Amino acid sequence: MMILVAEDDRVSCGILERYVLKWGFACVTAVDGEKAWQAIQENPDIALAIIDWHMPGLTGIELCKKIRIEMSESPLHLILLTGRKEKKDVLTAFAAGVDDFITKPFDPLELHSRIKVGQRLVESNRKLIHQNRQLAEFAKEMESLAEERARMLIHSDRLATLGVLAAGIAHEINNPTTFISGNAQTLERCIPTIEKGLRHLLESEPDKARRINLILEDFPKMTQGIRNGVKRISSIVNHLKSFSRKSDTRDLVPVDLHQSLENALLLCNNRLKHKFEVVRDFDMAVSTVNGDAQRLEQVFVNLIVNATDAMVDTPTKQLRIVTQLENDRIRIHFIDTGTGVPEEKIDQIFQPFYTTKDPGKGTGLGLAVSDGIITEHNGALTVRNIDGGGACFSIVLPNPAKPPTLG
Ligand SMILES: Nc1ncnc2c1ncn2[C@@H]1O[C@H](COP(=O)(O)OP(=O)(O)OP(=O)(O)O)[C@@H](O)[C@H]1O
Ligand SMILES: [Mg+2]
Repeated sequence: MMILVAEDDRVSCGILERYVLKWGFACVTAVDGEKAWQAIQENPDIALAIIDWHMPGLTGIELCKKIRIEMSESPLHLILLTGRKEKKDVLTAFAAGVDDFITKPFDPLELHSRIKVGQRLVESNRKLIHQNRQLAEFAKEMESLAEERARMLIHSDRLATLGVLAAGIAHEINNPTTFISGNAQTLERCIPTIEKGLRHLLESEPDKARRINLILEDFPKMTQGIRNGVKRISSIVNHLKSFSRKSDTRDLVPVDLHQSLENALLLCNNRLKHKFEVVRDFDMAVSTVNGDAQRLEQVFVNLIVNATDAMVDTPTKQLRIVTQLENDRIRIHFIDTGTGVPEEKIDQIFQPFYTTKDPGKGTGLGLAVSDGIITEHNGALTVRNIDGGGACFSIVLPNPAKPPTLG
């Protein structure tokens, strides 16, 4: 511990310094109040100060007051050295913020004991300050954790509401879509007959030729349009259904991961062939994951389709699918050479209905659905951009062969 001796009498100051050093403490001295204040300011190691009441300039009492006002947080222990013994002087000293005092001429044994008491108090004060700081930090951490949890709850609550809404909409849209689709198919089958009739009409009523030719030309286009529209509605309905569906953990069974990836690639074959290079970087140590094969394939298809969409206009068109076995985890990366995701949009792309695709092209549900499915598999879906272009979507799933280690 470092002790400051503030005493204008140089002889007494020297004696005090010698005792302090002899008792094994570090010592700094000051011969007036101003210098003592300066020493305290400059030396944060000073933990205890022996201060003479009478000093030129700043008196001991004034110095103590200044310390208590301007350094209110400091655990500095103040012992006042004085020849005054009257009660009112003692009270003045305590009111100024003095912790203890000793009368002149001082008894070295008594001074040593009072320093020891001071040392004990300083140490416990320091400990308290340290613990308070730790508590404050802990409280801050807890506060931000609580905020984060609250945000997550609001988010999952919103998603749950959206899920119920989505299920309702999907159900309502499904019925009319089914009969539009059925009628469109019947209509398509009738096209040859209708065409035949119209051509007959053309022969018997040539004055209506312009109109009939227009119908003959537009009719197949119209039915094609209906078919495309129905396809799109069905895809939205299916996405909405997936979005609102919560799978049961009992649905999770061992699924051959590489086989599932191959199935997904096969489903995307039409889109991939001749246009995109697919590289399989499979870790043969990976065998199964616990999952719902159909839903996992749905995720893989979503990611493959997204990757191809992102590579339409880029010069290199390569999708690399990597699997990795990592102790209690299995990782699957989909790395493309596409446009990448603008950094400021990275958090938004998982939100339902977020899409940058042209109107009518994307529902913006692919990633939201995929994220939900992977979460149900006790995993996580994340994205990062690749240096030099492209995005990497990564899935991490528990390794069924190795349950997670605690801690
Ligand atoms: N591999 C990728 N590279 C760059 N951007 C991507 C990639 N994958 C997704 N995105 C961005 O995230 C958006 C949301 O993707 P998501 O799959 O949810 O919907 P979508 O693909 O737009 O529509 P849908 O999946 O219904 O066809 C995309 O519109 C695109 O902007
Ligand atoms: Mg998509």
